[in-house]
Amino acid sequence: MAEVNLDRLLVGREAIERRVGELAEQISADYSGAAAPISIIVVLKGAVFFAMDLLRQLAIPARIDFVQVSSYHGRFDSVGEVTLQKDITMAIGGTDVLLIEDIVDTGLTASWLIEHLQTHRPRSVRLATLLSKPDRRRMPVTIDYTGFVIPDAFVLGYGLDFEEGYRHLPEVYVASPRTGEPEPHRE
Ligand code: PRP
Repeated sequence: MAEVNLDRLLVGREAIERRVGELAEQISADYSGAAAPISIIVVLKGAVFFAMDLLRQLAIPARIDFVQVSSYHGRFDSVGEVTLQKDITMAIGGTDVLLIEDIVDTGLTASWLIEHLQTHRPRSVRLATLLSKPDRRRMPVTIDYTGFVIPDAFVLGYGLDFEEGYRHLPEVYVASPRTGEPEPHRE
């Protein structure tokens, strides 16, 4: 696994904990009148960390499933492609669906997934994401619950990876690839 430099802390543990708690409260209130358990769909792999912290604090009945996609982001003039690696197996027809992402970047993955989930004829579909990078958006997507709006920087930790590593860091960092060159000498 290639190594990176953790340049700076972007979202610390306490901020994550506080915001996740607020989102859980808001989501619980918004769905409190739902007649049936809501269907939570977690996007593997990055969103697992955020989802597990969030779901443990929900005060409403919920059923949980996972989905995994791989996305190829085309060049500037194309919208890119999304391929389904693992579909849901839980029935979501007629239920209120909450899709959980770790980050909405170009918006390609989330918008594709929302359209895909709509084919199962749910009652509603909403989107929650820990992070949103609006400057990078190429596909319009409505985000119902946003943890943090962040700048266009390479970020990792709390689910976000670099070559599958660094996901388990408890906070979100701005990082840069390590070139292998020695660090510049500082007085
Ligand atoms: C990340 C993230 C979102 C997607 C967002 O997944 O979890 O699913 O990219 O990018 P977009 O808005 O530009 O489509 P990734 O493909 O890195 O998979 P991972 O969660 O397994 O790391």
